Amino acid sequence: MTSPVVANGKYVILGASGNTGSIIADYLLLKGKKVRVMGRDVGRLQRFVDKGAEAFTADLSDVAALNKAFNGAHAAYLMLPPAKSREDQEQESTAIAQAVKESGVGYAVHLSSYGAQVPESTGPVAGLHSSEQKLNAISGLNVLHLRAAYFMENNLKAIGMIHGMGLLGNALRPDVKLPMIATRDVGDYAAERLLRLDFSGKQTRELLGERDLSMTEATAMIARGIGNPDLEYKQFPYDQVEQVLTEMGIPPKGAAMYIEMYKAINTGVLIPLEPRSPENTTPTSFENFVQDVFAAEYQQNKGH
Ligand SMILES: NC(=O)c1ccc[n+]([C@@H]2O[C@H](COP(=O)([O-])OP(=O)(O)OC[C@H]3O[C@@H](n4cnc5c(N)ncnc54)[C@H](OP(=O)(O)O)[C@@H]3O)[C@@H](O)[C@H]2O)c1
Repeated sequence: MTSPVVANGKYVILGASGNTGSIIADYLLLKGKKVRVMGRDVGRLQRFVDKGAEAFTADLSDVAALNKAFNGAHAAYLMLPPAKSREDQEQESTAIAQAVKESGVGYAVHLSSYGAQVPESTGPVAGLHSSEQKLNAISGLNVLHLRAAYFMENNLKAIGMIHGMGLLGNALRPDVKLPMIATRDVGDYAAERLLRLDFSGKQTRELLGERDLSMTEATAMIARGIGNPDLEYKQFPYDQVEQVLTEMGIPPKGAAMYIEMYKAINTGVLIPLEPRSPENTTPTSFENFVQDVFAAEYQQNKGH
């Protein structure tokens, strides 16, 4: 365990307006830390500025801008945005790693995914494997890769389908059990490790949620939580899901990557490395997620 080299240095938070970044920024601000929040839209960063943060807008593929963003920072939260294509992911992870190296940031918590030990054929997760490698190549950087489970929030994308078709479906097998985590738990964990800066060298930490669940089990909990006991899960063919993803605005290359990820989960290629333990288990249950997040969003989207 190392102790923080700079007692009151500056933190840079990428994706600060996102699910995990917003939790981290709020927490570090609450602890009185100097925080620079990053994103593309100054309006979405304003609420952190109101609490004392400094806002910095840049695109994550822009090395020169990222260099400025990291200037003077001693620690950073690093994340890649939802994948549009493998080429975009590579460009973003290269830019982030280069800027981290050139600006001399000492500590980084990097949002990765469970299954990132597998180099290829896992869709967006393969891009996170590559991002881990690029950060591991930076000598002197202390980096903690958080290999987070499948986000419970991914299920929010099915709300329109539940309202429109009366069912919940995607390409995952109904019976395959996978770890699912609330993004709040990822944010809380990352924030605490960033506050303590108690990691050194190159480390990974799997975060596997409260328990493993199949889509059949998750759907049953959603059914109870929204008061629709007849709601059932349906596995759709890959080509149909790919088409729906592009209709939702995901570029074709991105949609193909998500199909590759679903296949990797269905065939057992995308799995955690570690058995479940107190260290990789996080508190929020799927029941709590449905009660606190899913049900509210489901009600809000009624009639849309
Ligand atoms: N979904 C899963 O199951 C899962 C599992 C494990 C790991 N992950 C990882 O988690 C990531 C998402 O994390 P999250 O949910 O916390 O984020 P999120 O809610 O999807 O938010 C993305 C953040 O990135 C910013 N952003 C997007 N594009 C950008 C760009 N080109 N340049 C600069 N900033 C940009 C967004 O702000 P602006 O739009 O304002 O710029 C926003 O703050 C995924 O990309 C993946 O790497 C996902």
